Amino acid sequence: MKILEIEKLNMTFSSRGLNGVERVHVLRDVDLDIDEGEILAIVGESGCGKTTLGRLITGLISPTGGTIKFLGKDLSKTSNAEKKLYRKSVQFIQQDSYAALNPVKTIYQSLYAPIKANNKKLSREEIDAMIGDNMEMVGLTPVELYLNKYPHQLSGGQRQRVLIARVLSLKPKIIVADEPISMIDVSLRLSILKLLASLNQKLNITIVYITHDLSTVKYVVGEGRMAVMYLGEIVEFGKAKDVIVHPKHPYTQALILSVPIPDPVIERSKPEVRLKSMEIPDIRNRSDGCAFADRCLYADEECKTWKLANTNSDEHIVCCKNLREVPSYDAGETNE
Ligand SMILES: Nc1ncnc2c1ncn2[C@@H]1O[C@H](COP(=O)(O)OP(=O)(O)OP(=O)(O)O)[C@@H](O)[C@H]1O
Ligand SMILES: [Mg+2]
Repeated sequence: MKILEIEKLNMTFSSRGLNGVERVHVLRDVDLDIDEGEILAIVGESGCGKTTLGRLITGLISPTGGTIKFLGKDLSKTSNAEKKLYRKSVQFIQQDSYAALNPVKTIYQSLYAPIKANNKKLSREEIDAMIGDNMEMVGLTPVELYLNKYPHQLSGGQRQRVLIARVLSLKPKIIVADEPISMIDVSLRLSILKLLASLNQKLNITIVYITHDLSTVKYVVGEGRMAVMYLGEIVEFGKAKDVIVHPKHPYTQALILSVPIPDPVIERSKPEVRLKSMEIPDIRNRSDGCAFADRCLYADEECKTWKLANTNSDEHIVCCKNLREVPSYDAGETNE
């Protein structure tokens, strides 16, 4: 069953500047279906609109065009009570765990408040039991060790676990994790990614994992799917394993070739990443046709106006008319 159906989603931000109102068309016609209980990764360079898409999915902002359906219901047509329920069911985890926690509240206080606010009839003992269960679920054990600590007394990884425990207390159906490990020590990153995957397996929570780091996708996604974004559009979509091993869009191919491989022999045998420009272009200067045409070695005149109409499908979708296989090489363990 589809938990989210996103169709022709558009987001334009307007801001007042020295030259009057400036409009930035960030997301352009994004189509994306998410199955209940799946893990989906959204990958792309900085500024391509990943966080904007995540904030739209969680209902933190409203789109300027298109629809988002949650369990078949168009969000723009739901009652206030249904919207409230939706915002509880779809939770956002941001990269900066320090900013997300109140520095003068203990971990216990931070975890107590949302449970109490949403379950007015629960006794103190019942809430304490829920806090204990959620902390165990995220690996903050022994629980007593953490309850009276303040955010600054924890590591980045532990703070991110507290945030995840807080989100669990709302019993979400979807967690959107936006770069959840980018501010955490490298040594702790893998354990947070595995935690997200375990929440999916144990609690059947749908996970949307947003990252600019393609090399981390395989630790979270498993059999799930991934969407590759470029300048506000999804350019490739499919089973993550398929996309990683057989990338078809020239942009995805470049992303995958850019992931360093620890084995120096294999690293040297990798085909070179070849683009017309290594600069990430400004989303404001995107062309109307294929957004990647300016950087793509295979682009021709037609690419400047060419567009694939609908990317929603269970298949491996590629928005490119000049597909070429990436030259084969033995990527070893890392690209499996
Ligand atoms: N509230 C806003 N007003 C105006 N422009 C915005 C707003 N929010 C985002 N943008 C612009 O939208 C574009 C996409 O931003 P977004 O944060 O979604 O990208 P991102 O893919 O998450 O990038 P990063 O990897 O750096 O987090 C950027 O050009 C950004 O400046
Ligand atoms: Mg972002």
